[in-house]
Amino acid sequence: MRRIDALLQKMTLEEKIGQLNMVAASRVVTGPGELRDMQEGIRTGRIGNLLNLWGAAETRAVQRLAVEESRLGIPLLVGLDVIHGHHTIFPVSLAEACLFDPDLWEKTARVAAEEAAEDGVALTFAPMLDVARDPRWGRIIESPGEDTWIACQMAAAKTLGFQGTDLSAPDSLAATAKHLCAYGAVTAGREYASAEVSERTLHEIYLPPFAAAVAAGTAAVMPAFINVAGAPMTANSKLLQGWLRGIVGFEGVLISDYNAVAELLNHGVAADLVEAAALALNAGVDLDMTSGAYLQGLPEALNRGLVTMATVDASVRRVLELKERLGLFDDPYRRGSVLPEPRRAEERRALARDAARRAIVLLSNRMGVLPLSPKIARIAVIGPLAEAPGEMLGSWASAGKPEDAVSTILEGLKAALPHCQIDHAAGVDIAGANADGISAAVGLCGSAEAIVLCLGESGAMSGEAASRVDIGLPGRQRALAEAILDLGKPVVVTLSSGRPLTAPWLFERADAVLATWFLGQEAGHAVAEVLTGTFNPTGRLPLTWPRDVGQVPIFYNELPAGRPYAPGVHYSSTYLDLPPTPQFPFGHGLSYSRFALSDLRCEPTRVKAGDMVKVTVAAHNESEVDGEATAFLFVRDPVASVARPLLELKGVRKTVLKAGERRTVTWRLPVEDLAFVAASLDRVLEPGRFEIHVGQSADGAGLLSAAVELES
Ligand code: BGC
Repeated sequence: MRRIDALLQKMTLEEKIGQLNMVAASRVVTGPGELRDMQEGIRTGRIGNLLNLWGAAETRAVQRLAVEESRLGIPLLVGLDVIHGHHTIFPVSLAEACLFDPDLWEKTARVAAEEAAEDGVALTFAPMLDVARDPRWGRIIESPGEDTWIACQMAAAKTLGFQGTDLSAPDSLAATAKHLCAYGAVTAGREYASAEVSERTLHEIYLPPFAAAVAAGTAAVMPAFINVAGAPMTANSKLLQGWLRGIVGFEGVLISDYNAVAELLNHGVAADLVEAAALALNAGVDLDMTSGAYLQGLPEALNRGLVTMATVDASVRRVLELKERLGLFDDPYRRGSVLPEPRRAEERRALARDAARRAIVLLSNRMGVLPLSPKIARIAVIGPLAEAPGEMLGSWASAGKPEDAVSTILEGLKAALPHCQIDHAAGVDIAGANADGISAAVGLCGSAEAIVLCLGESGAMSGEAASRVDIGLPGRQRALAEAILDLGKPVVVTLSSGRPLTAPWLFERADAVLATWFLGQEAGHAVAEVLTGTFNPTGRLPLTWPRDVGQVPIFYNELPAGRPYAPGVHYSSTYLDLPPTPQFPFGHGLSYSRFALSDLRCEPTRVKAGDMVKVTVAAHNESEVDGEATAFLFVRDPVASVARPLLELKGVRKTVLKAGERRTVTWRLPVEDLAFVAASLDRVLEPGRFEIHVGQSADGAGLLSAAVELES
């Protein structure tokens, strides 16, 4: 730290503000704004940090300007959105959430970090930890889904994966937990809108994943660029200073979202950039990403007495400390100097394949139409997502390019079924009104024994600035699907998308439907493995799949209603035109095996604070196919001082079971996990009876139940 003290003493105000300034280079574009005069800015110390740049040579060139040509030689921090892989592209985050597997989450983040660090990047704007319950919102694709407990597991696994055990290692990236908070709750799912969330819900649903990231050592946190209950997060002192730094004890760097400091003017809380800069800095935001508000506004904010030099210094210190922790002062070129080992490329690809096939969720499979018989002689692969390499990568694909050997579903099937004749037609485009290709596509199916219909969204239909009011199949895909379904042949549908798509008619008529999301580079091979049964599906939904957009937001852990839904009862919590029940519940996902759970036990059944409850259940593979069973552990507090959710996830176990095998699945549930956020916003453990439920999804009908009594 002596180095930092010495630097702080030498720095001019302009150099200090330069360290708080992050500017966008142009290798990728992730927001509005124009490229500033980057090189000159680096030399003069007005730019201390960059984003949207990668490449060993490219990052070295700018680093050299900072280290060798600026007055103080302070190294640059180079950040990039390394979200689901860098060169090796893994499934999008929502798809990865379907794995329910923290080890794999950590491994894919580790590989992403290694590859990005090989390209000179030192910080990623990930993991994204926004609990998302509204699939109209395009960024649900980047999220861990609807559940806070899962988001917390994801926070820890991804932070460890990106940062490794030593942040200064040449293959470590600083992680940025984003976007604090409640961005998933934007009004009506509309991008960039405000969120109106109660404080208790903030503390119970939206904030815990960020506390989990801090506990895992995240180097940085990014406030969301929305306003929450009227307080724009970029200026939200109460949550950033009070909660995050004060209560959670976060000591790292707060990085604004893209242009967010200047957008405080649009939010209507600052009259000019001077006020905007002062509000953000005083709220604890250290780095101004691209808005230039700190550069332009902070000198005047100091003059006007809106900020103090001590506050400026504290932020500069945090940024310099991060650079120090990343090892940049000792060797600014350490990232980007390690050459990728060719051998590793194959391992990485294998990991991408494994993650992709595990992310696929088999939603329905009537009469065992899947897996396809290995003897099948002729199939038709129809639809606009069958041969769409670019779409398979999904949003935020970092350095990934469609031409980087992305496997399409058509290619995957050709490779997996070399003796089968495979005919292909797109039939229609993903979007657009042209239906001219439908009859030719139908014509191709004449001799097919089965049809694989590849439907869905384009990669650009979800992600940032990609909210939709209609979350059904776009364009003329329904017309195509209905024409194909009318043939009366076995039809298997793959849905490539960044959100659950509403299509009740499709689920009604298709023999099998798979959620294949955007699975990354190995998409096609992974889908083919599942379709042909060389891989037995194990992915589970990390969100509730609605029947209709009118049901959203929809999520399993709702609070009880005074007049709960009861079929046929008029004055119960429902709609006139649809029941409130989902198309598929949270946790749903079929397998080619058939599993049963039985014999749920809790020990002891009377507990007190500090105890551990041992929960066991017998898992049985009742089928003749080896597979992986998933069991979810939920709790419910039926009577408490505030209404508690109908179910709350507290654990997930995946167990490999051979055909006919039975095994005991065990959880150790700390009694503290029964605590909740009370009306006072304190976490409390209230004595009384707690229900313990275990099942293969959140569907109430399939749950086993037991109870424990918490003594006072
Ligand atoms: C997004 C962030 C992202 C940033 C930098 C913003 O538009 O909201 O998630 O990290 O751009 O690309």
